[in-house]
Amino acid sequence: MVDSAQFWDSQAEKYAKQPIANEAAYDATLDRTRHYLDEDQRVLEIGCGTGTTALKLCDGVGTYVGSDISSSMIRIAIDEAVKKGVANVAFQTAAVGEIRDQNTPFDAVLGFNLLHLLPTLDDDLRKIASVLKPGGLFISKTFCGLRPGAPLKWRFMKIALPLMQMLGKAPFVRFQKESELKAAIEAQGFEILETRHFVTDFSVPFIVARKLA
Ligand SMILES: C[S@@+](CC[C@H](N)C(=O)[O-])C[C@H]1O[C@@H](n2cnc3c(N)ncnc32)[C@H](O)[C@@H]1O
Repeated sequence: MVDSAQFWDSQAEKYAKQPIANEAAYDATLDRTRHYLDEDQRVLEIGCGTGTTALKLCDGVGTYVGSDISSSMIRIAIDEAVKKGVANVAFQTAAVGEIRDQNTPFDAVLGFNLLHLLPTLDDDLRKIASVLKPGGLFISKTFCGLRPGAPLKWRFMKIALPLMQMLGKAPFVRFQKESELKAAIEAQGFEILETRHFVTDFSVPFIVARKLA
């Protein structure tokens, strides 16, 4: 299996230029996330990529830390933050399991299009819980699999995935039931507050969970 940091480093330039695949679903995700954020909060986004979401959400919170395993993604995120003159965002290169800055726990941790890429999901969910305040929120949107009737090209991609992974052309990807993902989150001391679906071809639940005291 290809090394995650290397793989995502190799994708960073291309990723930064890609248009948002489904603008309506993206906007709905941002809107619903904003509903839970406020200007007193300290927020961590894991797997923040090139910082697009961070730079859209940061004006509604106190401080925002974006982290990602790929230093190339983070470099682009920092450049964008400088261009936009944003003052309350910091970016750091770190895998979820290596997140620093835990002295002050966070009010909210966000992770979009990330959890399905984590081979060590349970450990990483434990880490997320450990950097949150009691009552803090974990907000995620995660690919879980194709929906019945998904277009043929996506079903072909699923069949081709192991070969692409062997060739280093695709990262680790977990296919799991939404119920399994929720159970994994709950097992680390969270209660699920809400689940929504903003896309149709895939199962990509938007999940809001609260850390129990
Ligand atoms: C599909 S991209 C999503 C980026 C961004 N969250 C978005 O929604 O556009 C996945 C991101 O997760 C990062 N990533 C993969 N494995 C990671 C890990 N173990 N810890 C932190 N980030 C990781 C990758 O570098 C990449 O930037």
